[in-house]
Amino acid sequence: MRYPKECVLKDCREVVIRPLEPGDRVLLDAFHTQIPESNRWLMNYNVMDATVMDNWFASVEKGNIACILSLYDNCVVGQASLYMRNFGATSHVGRFRITVLPEFREKRLGTWLLLDLTQTAMDHGLEILRADLAGDIENDAIGALKKFDFFKYAELEKSIKDYSGNHHDLVIMIKHLHKRWSDF
Ligand SMILES: CC(C)(COP(=O)(O)OP(=O)(O)OC[C@H]1O[C@@H](n2cnc3c(N)ncnc32)[C@H](O)[C@@H]1OP(=O)(O)O)[C@@H](O)C(=O)NCCC(=O)NCCS
Repeated sequence: MRYPKECVLKDCREVVIRPLEPGDRVLLDAFHTQIPESNRWLMNYNVMDATVMDNWFASVEKGNIACILSLYDNCVVGQASLYMRNFGATSHVGRFRITVLPEFREKRLGTWLLLDLTQTAMDHGLEILRADLAGDIENDAIGALKKFDFFKYAELEKSIKDYSGNHHDLVIMIKHLHKRWSDF
């Protein structure tokens, strides 16, 4: 994949997509402050905690996380992170999460990020992409993933608590990967 890459959104704005670089900490921290708290809660790690983010950047360095950013006006407006084990029984599975700033949603940015994340997973030789989502509150994302060949692999009833303490089903969405796009 050639980076940086320019992508045009539905509203004709152009964003740049590129992999995270070690010097992106300030940009990423600023992005996280603009994500609604209810969305941040579902990211499973506290992105507002500097120590957590130090460890997160160390995992990127080690190759356990691959992160793709999208930028507009030199600010991060979306990010896709791929979590890899690199050893053991689940080393063929990549888990991921995509987050887009509210004012950039429904403009196809999530789709651009998902396509690049899928290619990144294929480049790493992964066989399965997995996203864990909250039923009800993330139904939009679940629907969007289905359009890209993901299917509902399992549903664990009432096993997620949202930011307000309400229980939701945990929906595990899976996609099988191939070595090349043409294999699909
Ligand atoms: C989920 C998320 C990443 C989608 O990003 P996005 O930039 O809005 O996505 P896109 O504009 O590319 O939309 C892709 C598809 O999702 C669906 N979709 C997105 N938002 C939707 C909404 N509010 N209502 C209904 N469908 C929606 C549409 O089917 C759309 O396809 P279309 O453009 O062909 O109609 C973004 O909403 C987000 O950051 N949400 C909070 C975090 C989250 O839920 N992450 C999911 C974990 S993977």
